[in-house]
Amino acid sequence: MPTPPQHYFSAEPDVPEHRRTISVPLLGRTVQVQTSGGVFCPDRLDLGTSVLLRETPDPPPTGELLDLGCGWGPLALTMAQLSPGARVWAVDVNRRAVRLTADNAASLGLGVRAVTPEDVPADVAFDCIWSNPPIRIGKEALHELLLTWLPRLAPGGRAYLVVQRNLGSDSLQTWLTRTLGPDYLVSRHASAKGFRVLLVDRPTPRPVTPA
Ligand SMILES: C[S@@+](CC[C@H](N)C(=O)[O-])C[C@H]1O[C@@H](n2cnc3c(N)ncnc32)[C@H](O)[C@@H]1O
Repeated sequence: MPTPPQHYFSAEPDVPEHRRTISVPLLGRTVQVQTSGGVFCPDRLDLGTSVLLRETPDPPPTGELLDLGCGWGPLALTMAQLSPGARVWAVDVNRRAVRLTADNAASLGLGVRAVTPEDVPADVAFDCIWSNPPIRIGKEALHELLLTWLPRLAPGGRAYLVVQRNLGSDSLQTWLTRTLGPDYLVSRHASAKGFRVLLVDRPTPRPVTPA
């Protein structure tokens, strides 16, 4: 798969940071956010992201919520608005993206912990994960990323991943089912505009009743 000329998934993008303000349909209204070259989809709300926002149920009102691969922050900002009583983590390898998400949350008055992956304490388990995952980093790196974070779902937790159908959503679903094993239920939650929303559900184990 061709690599985009500007690596939106670099730790420090090599294009200069020129911030600009864009208006996007988010949080039930039109809001102003800051973006920059060197981050994912800096000119608008990505179509896949908008499919995920439209098709996915509200996150739980409390607990630990994660936007995996936050970019300039549309998923984390939405989680923080919908669940002000939860702790919202926004994680990205791209430090510019992390700074933009933190600044966008601050200017919208929302509570988001925007950090690089190593700054999420190892004992945090997530009640809900939303992600438009970075398919373009390549299959091996994508699989490693998903196997780092999905097993951090708390029992009863759910992850929603939006993936373009022609970028391998169905084979990713098959791989997730096979690799995560019987403790997780992987399904197609929704399909719209050429995207699938995959659901990874980690059911709470049933209590063992004495014989
Ligand atoms: C498709 S973009 C989605 C961005 C944002 N959530 C949105 O919807 O606009 C995927 C993001 O994952 C980030 N990413 C790539 N590799 C990562 C990794 N190993 N850990 C965390 N984030 C990563 C990229 O930098 C990019 O911002």
